[in-house]
Amino acid sequence: MHGIQLGGDFAASRRDRTVIDGDALLDQRPPRVLFTFAVYTAIAVLIASLAAVLVIRHNVEQNSMQKVSEHTRFISSRLIPGELKTSDWESTLRGPELKRFHTVVKRDLLTDGVVRVKLYNADGLTIYDSQGTLTGKPFGEADELREVIGGKSISAVKNVNHEGGSGTDRKSFESYSPVRYPDSNRAIGAVELYTDYATAAGSVRRQAVPLTVALLLVLLGLFAALLPILRRTTRALAIRNDALQVYAGDLKEHLRGRAEIEERLRHTIEDLERSEELLAVSQEETILRLSIAVESRDADTGSHIERMGRYCALLAEKMGWGNADRDLLRIASPLHDVGKIAIPDSILQKPGALSAEERSAMEEHAEIGHRILAGSDSPLLDLAARIALTHHEKWNGSGYPNGLAGEEIPVEGRIAAIADVFDALTSDRVYRPAMPLDTAFEILTEGHGTHFDPTILDVFFASIDEVIAIRSSTETAPEPIRDGSPKRRRRTRSAGEASSADSSSDEDGGIQSLVG
Ligand SMILES: [Fe+2]
Repeated sequence: MHGIQLGGDFAASRRDRTVIDGDALLDQRPPRVLFTFAVYTAIAVLIASLAAVLVIRHNVEQNSMQKVSEHTRFISSRLIPGELKTSDWESTLRGPELKRFHTVVKRDLLTDGVVRVKLYNADGLTIYDSQGTLTGKPFGEADELREVIGGKSISAVKNVNHEGGSGTDRKSFESYSPVRYPDSNRAIGAVELYTDYATAAGSVRRQAVPLTVALLLVLLGLFAALLPILRRTTRALAIRNDALQVYAGDLKEHLRGRAEIEERLRHTIEDLERSEELLAVSQEETILRLSIAVESRDADTGSHIERMGRYCALLAEKMGWGNADRDLLRIASPLHDVGKIAIPDSILQKPGALSAEERSAMEEHAEIGHRILAGSDSPLLDLAARIALTHHEKWNGSGYPNGLAGEEIPVEGRIAAIADVFDALTSDRVYRPAMPLDTAFEILTEGHGTHFDPTILDVFFASIDEVIAIRSSTETAPEPIRDGSPKRRRRTRSAGEASSADSSSDEDGGIQSLVG
């Protein structure tokens, strides 16, 4: 009962420790909600603003490049063919032609962000440069020019040094377009226009700044709206955290106390288990010594006590008994003749035949033994009492003291009957020597189904090798005699020779007269 309760407590405490860890709870701190929210809001504003600027810049750049490209195509297809003759493309513009064309360029082109104009003929010669530095020089990007002469317009954003390497690079839109005359399908050359990027950048700024500010204001408004809620939540969390810490401290203390109680209980249980073991050993030894004391008044020895227990245990094991019941039977069965303590020595040790009166007195040992052992709370003594009472009952109902038959006789009594008779037959008696094993087996076989439970006797014979091993391991083991004539052994007592037909034992009938 206690064991079960304690086991449950141990299991419950292990569950508690698994689910709740007091140290872990104590380590927890209230989250810095406001600070965290402010940081995340700032990061969100930063990322959103950056993304907006990138998107706006991309869009503005694309739009600006589209406009520059269209402007370049207009110049290449309308303005230039109207101002230059086809023959002007054969070499660099010079003299009055150059002067007139440069005036037109300054008036009509170098406005609204266009910072430089260059013309190339189909051979890659720079026939005009509004800044004059590259006039007469070959165009460096032959492949690119070939594509443009072939009819393709090209636009890109580039860092360009418009001072021919002497100034700083400026970010510009660079745009090429083929120059065609109305009477020809083939491009005569190409125009290159540089437009200042600053114009587009200004547009980016004009769009991105208000958007970013608006975004910032929206997020700040959101932050301001959520602030009171966050403050209340933080306060509630702090209060809950304080309570949790108090609870965790209590819990830790409780668990520590519980662990101490468990430890004490564990030691107590171990002490109890040790005491039980000692008690069991003492009980077994007490029974053994009592059995020896009783048997020492008879012709038997301590070896009979040991063999009796071992034979009974062997049969119980072969019949499928559990270890605990088998051991109980081994310890209890040696007490089967404890009632002989009340039988006078004159009867118990009489070498000759017993009279009817003496036999009747001898048979009382079964009931006397039962009275001595019965009425105890000990299962061991209770079992010993049943064996003492029934070990002389016979399967056919002709035994004593109650004439029980068949399975009316407790199974332990039926087992003990076989073990007791076999050991008596193969042991010296005051009135006869020990019988050879073969003779003892023949006598037991005669009692199959009459004296002995036939099933248990079959088990006995099926285990004959182990029976003989037990017999051989004891000090009074007789030599097997195969010629059918019992060999007389040295007597264990000097009570004299016994006739073959005597009946001085506590048993009756044919077998009993031999058993003694
Ligand atoms: Fe007996």
